[in-house]
Amino acid sequence: MKKYTKIKDISNLQDTIKDAILLKMNPFEFQDLGKHKTLVMLFFNSSLRTRLSTEKAAKHLGMDVMILNVNDAWNLEFEDGTIMNASTSEHIKEAAKVISQYADVIAVRAFPSLTDKQKDESELVMNSFVKYATVPIINMESATAHPLQALADAITITELTEKSKPKVVLSWAPHPKALPQAVANSFIEMMQQMDVDLTITHPEGYELSEAITKNTPISHNQEEALKDADFVYVKNWSNYKDYGKVLSQDENWMMTKAKLGNAKFMHCLPVRRNVVVEDAVLDGENSVVIQQANNRTYAAQIVLKQILEEL
Ligand code: CP
Repeated sequence: MKKYTKIKDISNLQDTIKDAILLKMNPFEFQDLGKHKTLVMLFFNSSLRTRLSTEKAAKHLGMDVMILNVNDAWNLEFEDGTIMNASTSEHIKEAAKVISQYADVIAVRAFPSLTDKQKDESELVMNSFVKYATVPIINMESATAHPLQALADAITITELTEKSKPKVVLSWAPHPKALPQAVANSFIEMMQQMDVDLTITHPEGYELSEAITKNTPISHNQEEALKDADFVYVKNWSNYKDYGKVLSQDENWMMTKAKLGNAKFMHCLPVRRNVVVEDAVLDGENSVVIQQANNRTYAAQIVLKQILEEL
């Protein structure tokens, strides 16, 4: 693997999921693969799971890890030809090349602005690192995608499914803040590549990009969509059409134990209790969010392993 900025960078998804599950059983099997190799992780935004699970994954492979909270460094400029006489002090052209001398792999987390749709859709930050760095780039959640999360989700469903083709429902949920579409986008793209029966449910007007949803069924009736579901993935996203706006906080869309039925409950975390999902779901036996978070390590580890093998 040359980089992992999007799901399509995985050449064989089924083998990758299978190998991740094997790594989980024997995490130190390839502990020499990353010897004398360094992973630099750059965070433009907060993280708990991505930060710790990716570091753990790298250490399982024997890598050294360096972490930079980018807001502690010089303000970066990403536009070409800018007269840098305002707040930015260093251009990505120099920064990416400099960091590449300290790293064998660079992982980047950079959320969207949610104010400039065109800029967010262009993945300016992630693509600038891909363009100017001289080492492989891993996406730890960008403006429009969270492929490491989606791989962990695929591993979790593969481990837990009792059916050859489970019904998977992605359900929007209310949230007081404007959140990115990245997790939902990548989850949909991942499920479209798996042998699952995927349905998306959200209030009218909360349509995601058609370039993502393609011909996946969409229902505005949550109760109908949840019928006979095996896995229910709950996630808020802000409005895509009226970009970045919170147009609904309808609490009727919160996930409850009654609505969930016998389905397994999934969420990428962090999650707001009794806003997105009620306590009874998270504290109940059908919640798999902790296992899902654990699988973040093995998703990151299989990606790092495949990259290290091609260095
Ligand atoms: N799910 C996820 O990416 O968690 P963090 O934001 O804590 O990394």
